[in-house]
Amino acid sequence: MTIDTSTQLNLVIGNPVKHSRSPELHKRIYEQNGINAIMLAIENPNLSDLIVAMKTLNMGLIAVTLPFKTQIIQYADVINDAVKVLGAANTLILKNGQVHAHNTDVDGINAALKDVDLNNKKVLILGAGGAARAVAYALKDTHADLFWMNRTKENAEELSNQFGGTVVEQDKLGQIDLIINTTSVGMSPKIDETPLPDYVFNQNQTVFDLVYTPKETRLLSEARKSGAHCISGEIMFVEQALKQVELCYGISPQVEMSS
Ligand code: ATR
Repeated sequence: MTIDTSTQLNLVIGNPVKHSRSPELHKRIYEQNGINAIMLAIENPNLSDLIVAMKTLNMGLIAVTLPFKTQIIQYADVINDAVKVLGAANTLILKNGQVHAHNTDVDGINAALKDVDLNNKKVLILGAGGAARAVAYALKDTHADLFWMNRTKENAEELSNQFGGTVVEQDKLGQIDLIINTTSVGMSPKIDETPLPDYVFNQNQTVFDLVYTPKETRLLSEARKSGAHCISGEIMFVEQALKQVELCYGISPQVEMSS
């Protein structure tokens, strides 16, 4: 991809942002879909200045990572339903001079689970932070039966009150069809950790780990050994970015990750 006078500037913001894989992933998507844009990473910007810059420089999209997902909402002109319910946005899109706030994490979760039958299935959500809320929102129109498990029980109780479901503890878990890890347990560099130690998986289960570094976490590797169907967080990471590009450029982009 050559940079010329038509190249559009997009950003990812965060603090820290150095570890972000978004610039590399967006570059891949832009190149493979003929989009003349570049994504740069900006650490800890002043948010009000950032919105002025977005409009002045006619940026297409800004990917928003921690810790700005909540603070950024007040600067948007248009806020979609998922952002309102979750109180978190991961994407700003500039359309006709207006900044729209979206949460494509929800789309990424839906895409990762698109082939999983959720009807009347028992779903265990590990964790009770922002990612857990996005999972609950993504599952809201399914007939899944939610179970919540979290280090701090009160946080799980809060989410079960908002989204429904039951708070459980590991030693009292019954049959579960789908396990979704929304905690950071197992993330690099602590790859020897798992949010479900000493758990016996079975081949009728699906396990979805939102952690994507490493691609195969200890949780997934143990589940796979027992014959469970495994879904890597990398699928969600890629799909949430594809949705950002779709919202911005009005196309349905594809991406080949191995190239
Ligand atoms: P995010 O917004 O990405 O979901 P978060 O809001 O910090 O991140 O939430 C992280 C979740 O993972 C929380 O539910 C947290 O448990 P607490 O509610 O007790 O804080 C959980 N979590 C993080 N580190 C953990 C660890 N080492 N062991 C168990 N749970 C952990």
